[in-house]
Amino acid sequence: MAKGAMGVEFWIGLMVCSALAVMQVNAAGSGFPVPSYYVFGDAYFDAGNNNFIRNAVPKANYKPYGMTFFKGVPTGRFCNGRIFADLLAAVMKLPLAPPSLSTTLTLDQKGVCVNYASGGAAILRSSSVAYGWKNPPSFDQQVTLFETHANTVIYEYGIDNALLILNDAIYQISFGTIDVLAYFTQPHQIESIQIFLESLATEYRRLVDRLYTINARKVVVFGVGPIQNSPVAKLMMSKMTPAESKKFCKDVDTAVQQLNQKLRLMVTEFNNDNAVGQPHGSLQLVFADVYGAVSAITKKPGAYGLTDVTNACCGAGKFGAEIPCGHRNSKVCKNVSKSLYWNDMQFTEAANQILFKLFFDGSSFVKPLSVKSLAKLLIPGVPY
Ligand SMILES: *[C@@H]1O[C@H](CO)[C@@H](O)[C@H](O)[C@H]1NC(C)=O
Repeated sequence: MAKGAMGVEFWIGLMVCSALAVMQVNAAGSGFPVPSYYVFGDAYFDAGNNNFIRNAVPKANYKPYGMTFFKGVPTGRFCNGRIFADLLAAVMKLPLAPPSLSTTLTLDQKGVCVNYASGGAAILRSSSVAYGWKNPPSFDQQVTLFETHANTVIYEYGIDNALLILNDAIYQISFGTIDVLAYFTQPHQIESIQIFLESLATEYRRLVDRLYTINARKVVVFGVGPIQNSPVAKLMMSKMTPAESKKFCKDVDTAVQQLNQKLRLMVTEFNNDNAVGQPHGSLQLVFADVYGAVSAITKKPGAYGLTDVTNACCGAGKFGAEIPCGHRNSKVCKNVSKSLYWNDMQFTEAANQILFKLFFDGSSFVKPLSVKSLAKLLIPGVPY
């Protein structure tokens, strides 16, 4: 795969050249001072970690996952093609980040980019467990894995070179869907939704702070999407009484919007605290409003080149969600590039491309900067 070649070239560069030369090499490649990226999250961002976890995790390691971009090879991505991180990597001219749990790879082979996301993962481990997935690493556990990697980078390449990589890297985070779904579908929390959402926000904030102490500076926080629109939620609601269904839809939607509001507030507060010398000096967060973007696409699919925003492209039965993607008798829709949903919950590559354009180029769905502007930021104090 291309990732090997690129990674090795970069590392050889790093070892023999001065830091200045490295940055020039990198800028000449993509025009962005982004030497690396790290990915944390759930099934929207998993690039194959769950292939390395034996039980009690959702899997995407069978056909037709991967049918579009990866020449039919199911990589473990919950998608027909590429996820957001892959599209960013293409623009940054960086390799596809390998799953962190592909532990047979040495640091050199892993290159600088690593993906920690795991389908079924949640902000709180108890949410995953309640939802039936005992083993996906939680947000906290993913950060711990990254901490080990960051220490290895520092040990292998020295603190100055390591800071070049860690400070200017882009960190992508997507959590919350499983927490909200678990709260409403697998009652395990005795606390009110308000207290539950506050505990999610508190944990999220703690972990962004922890990433900062491991030298993360350029961070994209992806909000939670409109879960009630997903084929899996529509299938659940079709089995309820009209009154129950209406209540479920409203409860989930309200919770998602409130959680997003808390994440937005966190982004603003960290950003207000980021002058050099302040507790979060040089930390720049961006909020990617997945809820707003997906809602806009769902309202006017034609404006985004889509025709089906209701059914899983891969699957069968009601909403394409009764028979899961890849199981016996599941089918793939006629034109996958016209669908929003690939399976009963995650998006097609076509949809990921639309989201990428909105968040990377800039739109009303990304605040306070586009991902492109974030990528261009030079972190003060990094020795170029
Ligand atoms: C599928 O849709 C895309 C995007 O509109 C179009 O370019 C392509 O030709 C279509 N493919 C088929 C097989 O209809």
